[in-house]
Amino acid sequence: MNAMKKSQLVAVSVYLFANCLLIPISAIADTTPSNLESTTVDSTRNIAGQLLNSLGQKLKTALSTDGPLAAVSVCKEAAPAIANSLSAEHGVQITRVGTRARNQKMGIPNVWQKEALTQFEERLAAGEKPADLEYWKVVETANGKRELHYAKAIAVQPQCLSCHGQAQDIPAALAEKIRQEYPNDQATGYSAGKLRGAVVITKPL
Ligand code: HEC
Repeated sequence: MNAMKKSQLVAVSVYLFANCLLIPISAIADTTPSNLESTTVDSTRNIAGQLLNSLGQKLKTALSTDGPLAAVSVCKEAAPAIANSLSAEHGVQITRVGTRARNQKMGIPNVWQKEALTQFEERLAAGEKPADLEYWKVVETANGKRELHYAKAIAVQPQCLSCHGQAQDIPAALAEKIRQEYPNDQATGYSAGKLRGAVVITKPL
């Protein structure tokens, strides 16, 4: 009888001990990328969508009402303004980067953003659709904090070519305007369907 009690006690102790171990393990598991997917990645994807939508609408209106020459200034002012206000509103850093950049301050990819663009190029070459190209990674920063790196691909569409197409196809006045505003512009020579760049977001976790 005594022996039975002892073994029951051992079983209960093992159970409790295992549970004590399990609680912190499951708490750690809750913060893995797969669980982040449904919450943080979703809301981050949403912010990227907002940038693409508002910019797309601004560009469309500017192109149809005032033409491409005026639309250059709209892009110049609207793109950074929308990015900055979304950054402030959501506590993230959001911008657009290019495989070749026009805006030399905001448009040049850093190391992880380059990695995302390289992955997108490979996946495009393997037959994936531009709209499906998305990248994310949770990383630990030098000061021990964690952040989410998120990128969504931007493909070239026919309406982008007046400002990003082959240099010889861009009307002279438009090319001149772009040169004035962006003397170090690299962002021409694209054709429809090619990877133009990505919306990139860094979100502290
Ligand atoms: C009217 C000319 C014009 C058209 C049309 C245009 N863009 Fe741009 N694009 C610009 C300008 C100007 C900038 C630089 C904006 C800035 O200063 O942030 C730019 C910058 C970008 C960037 C940021 C990276 C970089 O090079 O600085 C991306 C990505 C981009 N454009 C994609 C597109 C796509 C995709 C389309 C078509 C849907 C498009 N653009 C149509 C003028 C244009």
